[in-house]
Amino acid sequence: GNITSLNPINPINKPDPWEIKALKAFENGKTEISSVNKMENGKEYMRLMRPLITEKQCLKCHAVQGYKVGDIRGGISVSIPMEPRLLIVRKQKTAVTFGHGILWFLGLGAIILGGRKQVQSEEQIKKQIEQLSSLHTIDTAITSNFNLQAILNVILENVISQLHVDAAAVLLLNQDTQTLEYVDSIGFRSDALKYTTLKLGESNAGRAAKEQRITTIPNLGEYPDGFARSELFPQENFMTYFGVPLISKGKVTGVLEVFNRALLSAKPEWLNFLETIGDQTAIAIDNATLFNNLKSSNTELTLAYETTIEGWSRAMDLRDKETEGHTQRVSKMTLKIARVIGIKEKELTHIRRGALLHDMGKMGIPDSILLKPGSLTEEEWKIMKLHPEYAYNMLHQIEYLRPALDIPYCHHEKWDGTGYPRRLKGEQIPLAARIFAVIDVWDALSSDRPYRAAWPKEKVLKHIHSLAGSHFDPEIVKVFLKMDL
Ligand code: C2E
Ligand code: SIN
Ligand code: SIN
Ligand code: FE
Ligand code: FE
Repeated sequence: GNITSLNPINPINKPDPWEIKALKAFENGKTEISSVNKMENGKEYMRLMRPLITEKQCLKCHAVQGYKVGDIRGGISVSIPMEPRLLIVRKQKTAVTFGHGILWFLGLGAIILGGRKQVQSEEQIKKQIEQLSSLHTIDTAITSNFNLQAILNVILENVISQLHVDAAAVLLLNQDTQTLEYVDSIGFRSDALKYTTLKLGESNAGRAAKEQRITTIPNLGEYPDGFARSELFPQENFMTYFGVPLISKGKVTGVLEVFNRALLSAKPEWLNFLETIGDQTAIAIDNATLFNNLKSSNTELTLAYETTIEGWSRAMDLRDKETEGHTQRVSKMTLKIARVIGIKEKELTHIRRGALLHDMGKMGIPDSILLKPGSLTEEEWKIMKLHPEYAYNMLHQIEYLRPALDIPYCHHEKWDGTGYPRRLKGEQIPLAARIFAVIDVWDALSSDRPYRAAWPKEKVLKHIHSLAGSHFDPEIVKVFLKMDL
C-alpha cells in the first residue's frame, strides 16, 4: 500500500497509470475505485484506492500547495497480488455482470465458492486501507509536530479506532530513575493509571519493558494481582491486556498499554498493527526526546556562555578599578541606541556580548600602564593602543564570539579616520562600534579614572557634541543626545 497524489510533495508518491485514473475519478466525485490491474512487474493485482482527505495537521506540509481541510489531495492505494484461483473467479464475475445468461449458469457455483473468498479479501483490503491512512495520520503528526503529548494523543486515538479496544495508555521510561511513568491515556473511566510509576520488571508494563516483548493477558480476571498498582483499577472492569514495549535502537523508551473490557482474541493482522503502532510510538518518543535534549543542552550552553562573558567583564572592571557595573552600564546603553536605530534582534546578542567584552584586550596591558595615575608616555601609549588587537587575538579564536568582535576590535576607530588600530574611516567602521564609541567616551568621562576625576554631566555632553563628525558618526551623536540619559 502507499500514498499517492497528482500533486505530490515527495516524488516517491508519484502515481502510476492505474492510480492516475483513480485519482482523476476522485476529482469527479468517486469515493472508491477498485479493479484488477497488471502492475509494472507484469503481475496482476487486486487494487483498491480511496481518497486521501486533508486533515488539519496535513496543512503544515500541504497548505503551501493551496489545500484546505477536507480537500482530497490524493489517494491511499492498496495492491494485493491475485492468487490464480481468485483471478478465475474474478473473470467469471465480470462475465456475469455483463449478463451473458449461459455463463451466468455455468459460473454460478464457482462464484459462490470463490466469491466468498473474494468478498473477504476485499474487506481485508478495506481494513488495510483504513490502517494505512491511520498510520499516515500518525506519521504526519510525528513529522509536523515536536510536541510529544500532541503526537501521543493522535496515536492513542488511532489505537482505539483501529484496534477497536476500550482504552490505551503510554508510559515513558525515565532514563535517570529507570522507572516507567504515566504520560497519556485514552478511554479510562477513572484516574486509575494517572499516578503510575513502575520499576522495570514490576507489574505487566514493567515486565514488557524488562523482557522487551509484548505482555499479553487474555483474561485479567485470572490475574488479579497484575494491576496492584492502583486501587481504582478494578472499577475499570478490564478483561484483556496488552503491554507493548516501545523500543528504539535496541533500547526501551516506554510501554504502550492496550485494554479491553471484553475478551479479545487477537488475530495476526491485529497484533501486527499493534506492533506497527508500537514502532511508530517509539519513533515519536525518540524524535521528541532528541529534540528536547538538543533544546535544553542548547539553552544550558547559551547560559554558560553568557555567565562566562559576564564573569570576564566583571573581572576586567575590577582590574581597571572601574566603578562597579561600568561595563554593564555601557552595554545596556549601547543596546538601547542600537534598538532605536533599528538593528535586528539577532544582531543585538552579538552587540551585547561585544560591549561587555569591549576592553577585554586591556588584560594584556601591564598594571604599571593601566593603573598609572598620570598621563602616559609615548612608549606607554603605544602599548595601550594595542588593546583592541589583543581583544581580537583572544576572541576571534572563540567561534561563538567571532560575530561579537566589531566592538572590541573597532571601538577606538574614529569617524575621520584618525583612530586605531586600523584607521578605518566613516562607514568602514562597523555600525556597532560607531555606536559604542560614543557610549564609551561618555561613560569614561562621567567616571573617575586613575588618571583624572569624573567630569560633570554638562561638560561630557558638550564634549561629545563637539566631536560629532570628527571622532564620532554625527548621526549617532544626534540619536545619543536625544536619549534620556
Ligand atoms: P578609558 O579610560 O576607558 O577611555 C576610553 C576613551 O574615552 C578614551 O579612549 C578617550 O577617547 C575617552 N577619554 C577617557 N578619558 C578622557 C579624558 O580625560 N579626556 C578626553 N578628551 N577623553 C577621554 P583613548 O584615549 O583611546 O584611551 C584608551 C584607554 O587608554 C583609556 O580607556 C584608558 O584606559 C587609557 N588611557 C587613556 N589616557 C590615559 C591616561 O592619561 N593615563 C592612563 N593611565 N591611562 C590612559
Ligand atoms: C505527497 O505530498 O508526497 C503525496 C502524498 C500526500 O499528500 O501526503
Ligand atoms: C507528507 O507529505 O506525506 C507529510 C505530511 C502530510 O501527509 O500531510
Ligand atoms: Fe503527505
Ligand atoms: Fe578601549
